[in-house]
Amino acid sequence: MQKIENCQEIQALALAQRRAGKSIALVPTMGFLHDGHLELMRQARKLADLVIVSIFVNPIQFGPNEDLDRYPRDLEGDLKKCEAVGVDLVFTPTPQSLYPDFFQTAVTVTEITKGLCGAGRPSHFQGVTTVVSKLFNLTLPDTAFFGEKDFQQLAVIRRMVTDLNFPIKIIGVPIVREKDGLAMSSRNAYLPGKERQEAAAIFAALSQAGSLYREGCRESEKLCQIVLEQLEEKIKSPFRVEYIKLCETLNLTEINGLVKQPAVLLIAVHLAGTRLIDNLQL
Ligand code: PAF
Repeated sequence: MQKIENCQEIQALALAQRRAGKSIALVPTMGFLHDGHLELMRQARKLADLVIVSIFVNPIQFGPNEDLDRYPRDLEGDLKKCEAVGVDLVFTPTPQSLYPDFFQTAVTVTEITKGLCGAGRPSHFQGVTTVVSKLFNLTLPDTAFFGEKDFQQLAVIRRMVTDLNFPIKIIGVPIVREKDGLAMSSRNAYLPGKERQEAAAIFAALSQAGSLYREGCRESEKLCQIVLEQLEEKIKSPFRVEYIKLCETLNLTEINGLVKQPAVLLIAVHLAGTRLIDNLQL
């Protein structure tokens, strides 16, 4: 497995591979890899000649009071994990190499970024789409893999790829969960023992709404309400709900009233200073 830090070097390598007729899959990550990331890599491995994983904690997608400085990092461990699942190349740029002095360009998806996570993190998605565009230009992938846990991020990236005609197929991979149902996330590492146990209530609450939906309930208010009630019942530590929303799966428009189209229930909760997101497609 090769490791490259330099932008020119990886772009030249990717170009040579594409010219030689090889297919490239990109798995963009911020490192501190868990099984959710490894699943993206396994899927990529099945599809492409060359699997590239990028590891970069992207400063421009963090707000001023967010966790950029304490975001967990373990490059050595990450490299071992990548090697074990058969990744060919790991790209580990520095912030200075991706954002040199005088950098002043951004990629913005205007509408689908406004609600949900975008409401509480106003510059977040612009940071994501800007870095992902750069990673696409540097690694020239045919396919790129993203987890469905970040459901809005996946929708935003699909929108950007369509709108800007990137010749790249975006593949969403289902959420990988811990044994107790908590969606895998690098940020789970922040949770102390008690709150870590209580965090399992998030998926349990979504699942209750899923059961209610399967029993025939189509009222968005009731489906969201049961999630809140379950959280209040099961989480004893202080927590704050940022949003619980039922949205159309395709464009993430909020559904008020009756659910008549494919829908997804999305949630963001703050527990022990940690922002946790999850979702359930109904
Ligand atoms: O999902 C993530 O880890 C990040 O948002 C991404 C896509 C790697 C961009 O920094």
